[in-house]
Order: sequence, then structure tokens, then C-alpha cells
Amino acid sequence: MKTKEHWENVFATKTEAEVSWFQPYPKTSVEFFELFNLPSNANIIDVGAGDSHLVDVLLEKGYKNIYVLDISANAIEKAKKRVGEKASLVNWIVSDIVDFVPPVKFDFWHDRAAFHFLTDTEKVNKYVSIAENAINTNGYLVLGTFSENGPKKCSGLEIQQYNETSMSSQFERMFNRIKCVTEDHQTPFNTIQNFLFCSFQRK
Ligand SMILES: C[S@@+](CC[C@H](N)C(=O)[O-])C[C@H]1O[C@@H](n2cnc3c(N)ncnc32)[C@H](O)[C@@H]1O
Repeated sequence: MKTKEHWENVFATKTEAEVSWFQPYPKTSVEFFELFNLPSNANIIDVGAGDSHLVDVLLEKGYKNIYVLDISANAIEKAKKRVGEKASLVNWIVSDIVDFVPPVKFDFWHDRAAFHFLTDTEKVNKYVSIAENAINTNGYLVLGTFSENGPKKCSGLEIQQYNETSMSSQFERMFNRIKCVTEDHQTPFNTIQNFLFCSFQRK
């Protein structure tokens, strides 16, 4: 099954509580976001957002230039429905991240558990190059992937695990690392998945 088909199928057939990555509140992502004190007109993107609740938190905080990108149109439709009337304040984008042509430059780029699905070097390089070009000088990048203590698959697909060094080395050409943390994510099925989150600042 192709990547897009896989994800369209996931979001057409599973509820929030039936997917391992679901979080009612994206605590670690919000903690990173709050470190940077971004103004309310900052351009913010959640890449591979699925139907994450991060957009709800950002809207609640009054952010006005939010972009939510996912390869799955079904995921975006679900997120729009959940957000309700504020959905019209968000820029919703259905695209494979490696084909993304950014309409603006971003001050904050967030990705929880999408980058790790890129397992071939060419796609990883494409992602890194798109992020390098799309993030403003001094803008921030926050990436969450499975750590080397985490699962080897996600949603039945192979993923690339990272440690602090391997993640940083992908981005060090144009980004300075700020800090990394690991997090034990408790899935809706009461299992634990160890994530690595790192933040970077564009040089
Ligand atoms: C494990 S889920 C994580 C969803 C969300 N970030 C969260 O934390 O709840 C992975 C998400 O990445 C999206 N995705 C996977 N590959 C992608 C790609 N190449 N381009 C854009 N989105 C992708 C999937 O559709 C899915 O929504």
C-alpha cells in the first residue's frame, strides 16, 4: 500500500482512542513551544499533524498564522471538524511533506512522529532541505521521533529511530541544537513508547 493510501485508510477507519500516538493534550510539544515566547502573528506549522490537538492549543493561545499539514485529507477533515468554527482561522494543507512548497517562511516548525517515517536517505535529505529553506533565520524547529528505546514500527510501518546525535547530525548544517528530552508516551492501549524530542534554531 502506498504511504498516502495507508494514512487515508487509518484516518477513515480508526478513532482517536484506536491509534497509538493519540494524546488528549500534547504536553511536551506545548512545553517546547512556550520556551520561545513567539508573538501572536508568528507563522507556525505542524507537519504530519494528523488530527493532533496541538492546533486547538495554539488557537486557544491566540495564534493567528497557523498551518496544519498532513498527507491524509481524511486526517485534515477530522481535525477541521473537531476544531469547529475556528477552523476557518487555520491554513489546512494536504501534502506529502517531501513535495511541500511552503507558501510562507515559518517561525516555528513542529513535527511529532511524521519525520521518522522517512526511512530512505533521499527523502530524509529532501525533508531537511525543505525545512532549512522554509524556516526563518532564528526560527525554531521541534522534532519528536521514536528514540532508540522506542518501537521499531509505528502504525505498522517501519520507522527510523533517532538519538540526540543522529537527529542533530541531520540538521546541523543550518540549525543549532537547543535541547533534547525523552518522553514515555502512554498509548491509549496502556503501552509505553519512548520518544526523543529535540529543538533547534535556524542559523
Ligand atoms: C503517528 S501520526 C502522528 C500524528 C500527529 N503528529 C500527532 O502527534 O498526533 C503520523 C502522521 O504523519 C502523517 N504523515 C506520514 N507520512 C507523511 C508524509 N510523508 N507527509 C505528510 N504527512 C505524513 C500521517 O498521515 C499521520 O497523520
